[in-house]
This record gives sequence, structure tokens and C-alpha cells, in this order.
Amino acid sequence: MTSLQGKERAAYVQNMFDRIAFRYNIMNRVMTAGQDMKWRRFMIEKARLSSGDRLLDLATGTGDVAFEALRMVPGVQAFGGDFSLGMMFVGQKEPLGPQVRWNGADALNLPFPAETFDALTAAYLMRNVIDIPRGFAEQMRVLKPGGRLVILDTSPPPNNILRPFIVGYLKYGLPLLGRLIAGNSDAYTYLPESTQKFKTPDQLAALMREAGFRNVQYKTFMFGTMAVHWAEK
Ligand SMILES: C[S@@+](CC[C@H](N)C(=O)[O-])C[C@H]1O[C@@H](n2cnc3c(N)ncnc32)[C@H](O)[C@@H]1O
Repeated sequence: MTSLQGKERAAYVQNMFDRIAFRYNIMNRVMTAGQDMKWRRFMIEKARLSSGDRLLDLATGTGDVAFEALRMVPGVQAFGGDFSLGMMFVGQKEPLGPQVRWNGADALNLPFPAETFDALTAAYLMRNVIDIPRGFAEQMRVLKPGGRLVILDTSPPPNNILRPFIVGYLKYGLPLLGRLIAGNSDAYTYLPESTQKFKTPDQLAALMREAGFRNVQYKTFMFGTMAVHWAEK
């Protein structure tokens, strides 16, 4: 799990998402009390898309961010990329599935030429990648000059009065929900562990600036446990 490193960790993550793919969407709605779709809509607003723009939704999984873009911006060209074919297989069967161009893609070695996309979204990717600077470098490469990057991820519980409750939910609540709903407590033990070890929103913003992104900003949600970062190439 989070003790794994490098390629072993990447293989673990890929395999885990293939296994939970069929219960992934319902688990998201329950875990976040239905808030997750609101954060995805916020991502699309920050991507500032126009009709005809090319969007790459990286780590698209079952496609929820790409679908939100198609709903909010008619005429957008939505590409999905993920290394879990099992997740994308579930997304392809959704009503908007045929409108997304699905691609098997490793976030650290994207199968697209430089300067292909007007915007790139990635929800719950960066916590999982084994090399964050390389991930940002690839995102920078495939964006056109002036292109927008918008990412959503969980953040370590902030040091405030709610911290013990949040840590309790992460440690006991999520694995229990994972067992009951997704039939897999392992995956939902990985989620809290990787969240607690992940970068704070400030640290992530600093890494985006180091990768060369401009105008990096972020907003937190759900008592500081989720963050959306946005920036420009
Ligand atoms: C938690 S899911 C998020 C799916 C979707 N973005 C959403 O908002 O529901 C994380 C996704 O990231 C993908 N992923 C993780 N590491 C990746 C990598 N290195 N390259 C491509 N996809 C990756 C997983 O396969 C999984 O589908």
C-alpha cells in the first residue's frame, strides 16, 4: 500500500482501481455526502472552457469530470486518459460515455504530442502518482501555451478543532464504508493513508509553481480535507 514505492506502488494502484471500478461511483457519493459532483463542477468553471476546446481529463476513471465538462460546455472535445481500463470500461457505458475519447494513458508518460490541449483536469490523481514533479511536467508539456490546469485532491487533515473527528472518519469510517459498499476495505484503507501522507495545499501549490505553472491558486472544501488547485501554462 502506501509503504510500497515506485513501480510496485503504481501497479498496486492500477490493480486496486480495476477491482473497485463497479462500485466506485456509489462509494464516492456516499463518502462525500454527495458533495463530490459540486467540486467537479467547480473544476470545470476554473478550466474556463469554450465550445471546440480540447480538454484532457487525466485519471478520468469512470469519467465524471469529463461528463461534467460535456454537460456544462456544449461543443467541448473531451478526452479521457487513465491507466485503469476497468474504470474507463464502466464510464464508457454511461449515457455520455460515447462522447468521450477514452485513452489508456500513464500520467507519467502521456501518449499525446506537446501542446495538444486547451485545458487539463485531474481529480484524485496526484496523490497516487509515484513522481509528482514528473506528473506536472507531463501536464505542462501537453497543454497549449495559456492552457489551464485544474486539479482536485484530498488534503491531509488540517490542524484545527475538527482534526480528531476527521482522523477518526479516515481511520475507521472509510474502511468500514468500503467494506459495506464496495466490498473492499483494502482500497478504502489506502485512501486515508495516502491522504494523510499527501502534500498540504500550500506544498502542492509550490510544486505547481516549481513546474512552471503561473497564477497558481487554490480553494479548500469539506473542512479543509479537499482542495482544488488551478493554474495556467
Ligand atoms: C480516485 S480515481 C478518480 C477518478 C475520477 N477522476 C473521478 O473524479 O472520479 C483515481 C484514478 O486515477 C488513476 N490513476 C492513478 N495513477 C495513475 C497514473 N499514473 N496514470 C494514469 N491514471 C492513474 C486510477 O486508475 C483511477 O482511475
